[in-house]
Amino acid sequence: MRRSEPRLQRKLLAWLLGPLAVLLVLDTAAAYWSSWRFSNLAYDRALHEIGREIALHVKLDGTRPRLELSEAAANILVVDQEDQLFYRVLGDDGADLGGDPQLPAPRTGKPAKPDFYGDTVRGEPVRMMVASMPIGPDAGPPLVLVQVAETLNKRERLAWEMVANVVLPQLLLIVMATAVVWFGVSRGLEPLQRLRRAVSDRSHLDLSPIDTHDVPGEVRPLVDEVNELMARLGRTFDFQNRFVADAAHQLKTPVSGLKAQIELALRESDPQRVRHSLAQLYLSADRLSRLVRQLLSLARNEPGALDSMQLQPLDLNAHALEVSMEWAPQAIKRNIDLGFEGADHPLMIDADRDRLRELVNNLIDNAIRYSQPGGRVTVQAGQIGSDQCRLAISDDGPRIPVEERARIFERFHRLLGTQEDGSGLGLAIVSEIATLHGARITLEEDADGVGNTFSVFFPLRAA
Ligand SMILES: Nc1ncnc2c1ncn2[C@@H]1O[C@H](COP(=O)(O)OP(=O)(O)OP(=O)(O)O)[C@@H](O)[C@H]1O
Ligand SMILES: [Mg+2]
Repeated sequence: MRRSEPRLQRKLLAWLLGPLAVLLVLDTAAAYWSSWRFSNLAYDRALHEIGREIALHVKLDGTRPRLELSEAAANILVVDQEDQLFYRVLGDDGADLGGDPQLPAPRTGKPAKPDFYGDTVRGEPVRMMVASMPIGPDAGPPLVLVQVAETLNKRERLAWEMVANVVLPQLLLIVMATAVVWFGVSRGLEPLQRLRRAVSDRSHLDLSPIDTHDVPGEVRPLVDEVNELMARLGRTFDFQNRFVADAAHQLKTPVSGLKAQIELALRESDPQRVRHSLAQLYLSADRLSRLVRQLLSLARNEPGALDSMQLQPLDLNAHALEVSMEWAPQAIKRNIDLGFEGADHPLMIDADRDRLRELVNNLIDNAIRYSQPGGRVTVQAGQIGSDQCRLAISDDGPRIPVEERARIFERFHRLLGTQEDGSGLGLAIVSEIATLHGARITLEEDADGVGNTFSVFFPLRAA
């Protein structure tokens, strides 16, 4: 059996981790943004300092400013382990006084305070500082414009270090929360897992109730329902098993009889006697085929067979008369007076024509079969009250004892001492068909005190 995944656990984790992951991404972005600002703030100051150092090397040559910065001195100022630095000095009139001529022009002409911004030098992103600075120690004019640019390596490193300091503990927290939730949910679902094992480990024949001890309250009603279903299944299985055993037993006897008769016939040499045996065989085969038909009919009319029912409006009065007439030859053969007393108007009911015929056939068959020769069988149809009609079959046969009146509707049940052939299925079929039609059967002794009356009450079709 395939081990099913703990889906609840995964769902809970997904709901927990999904939003947390989104939060973490947003938080990382925000942390990076503020770290980058702090990193710039720190290193911009250093950049400004370098600019000031450079400005100290601008001397006045008469009225013209001139940059006097030896290569060695410049190297000391602009050498850095991680980043590349560039500088340039422009005169008040825009004249280039020295430094790197490839530095892009400042974005604002002469800024009042130091201006810091991002730019590129030879295709590399840089942080640019532009400031107007006085020449010499006194703060008055003339001024020069000093540009210092620096690549971004150490700024980025500092920003990422700060981000890592903020985000790593959060990541650790999420991992721990995941572990705690995983563990907690596993513990919480343990009873369900036990329940699953209890069900998957049991044999398909074991329909005993599942132990509800230790089952969580939320799942309890489900387990109770399953137990109830198993109990019903168990009853159905028992019933089916008994039926199959009974049916097999019922079939066994006539089949062995048939075999014995065939063996006997095979040993005969006299054509006359062979013919006689064949006639006997025919009768036995006929009985067997009736039994098989009855068994099939029983299966076909099980309460679960409702979907194959074809209910249609039908006149019970006409239908009962039609079926009764078909029994006339049989009645005459047994010298039985078969009569019909119908209503003077149609009795409309919702019925499955073939099944209703089978019901009436079985009742008339019993009445004729179990009556004494010379007796009387009456089929009656009539309305009872405003919403019911009754089909009654009365006979003159031996009275069915009161204590047997319920049992004869059970499968295979026959009265002791019955001489006639039969398998005890007719009335079980009648009872099933009546149930399918919402009808009710009663059995009483006949009005004249002799014989039995089987009555079936059908609901009348609404006008
Ligand atoms: N009208 C009747 N008069 C007397 N006994 C009856 C009557 N109808 C049924 N019984 C008794 O009830 C028993 C059950 O009847 P049921 O019709 O179920 O089976 P069956 O007639 O024995 O066999 P089959 O399956 O061939 O109909 C019969 O064996 C018989 O003893
Ligand atoms: Mg019968």
